[in-house]
Amino acid sequence: MKLIYNPASPFVRKVWLTLIETGKIDEVELVKVVTTAVDTAEDAKAANPLGKIPSLVLDEGYAIYDSRVICRYLNDGAKAELYPNADLWRVLTLEATADGIMEAAVLMVYEGRIRPEDMVYAPWVDAQWEKVSRAVAQINDSFMDLLNGPFCIAQIAVGAALGYLDFRHDDRNWRRDNPALAEWYADFAQRPSMQTTRPD
Ligand code: BEZ
Repeated sequence: MKLIYNPASPFVRKVWLTLIETGKIDEVELVKVVTTAVDTAEDAKAANPLGKIPSLVLDEGYAIYDSRVICRYLNDGAKAELYPNADLWRVLTLEATADGIMEAAVLMVYEGRIRPEDMVYAPWVDAQWEKVSRAVAQINDSFMDLLNGPFCIAQIAVGAALGYLDFRHDDRNWRRDNPALAEWYADFAQRPSMQTTRPD
């Protein structure tokens, strides 16, 4: 298998964490690309018509993409238990919440990186951060039982999302109003998989 990746992407990190945590990492060749929303790498386009990363090119000769699809594929292949029957819908909702944090946080970075400075629309950037803030607060207030429960895909997704906030939006201080989540992440970030995949 080949993973089309860039270590800065939180969606890539989520898949990379899953590869390590399921013991599948030695089965994959990492193919690094440098790609943006306006200048898409050829390898990224070849694997996924949307040009997004990560994509996983399977030995069968076709690619699968979208971190949710890839993580589920890896879980099934490894016979791991990242998608527990108990509370499955809440686990998937928490995963979706973490993915939404990543999406909004990446869009904020693109707005600053791709647009000329005088064309950056501050209210739009602020609205993206409001989404992030509300989602982080929701996790802190309503999902700590899942984060402190058996290891699952939602923990991986939240770990990748919070790691990205530290990487690109450290100045916004997501920890300030979310002490339970901050305490959980301090511990989760020590996992060997999190240390290996640090983007910085
Ligand atoms: C970043 O540099 O933050 C980034 C790179 C690739 C995909 C998403 C984000």
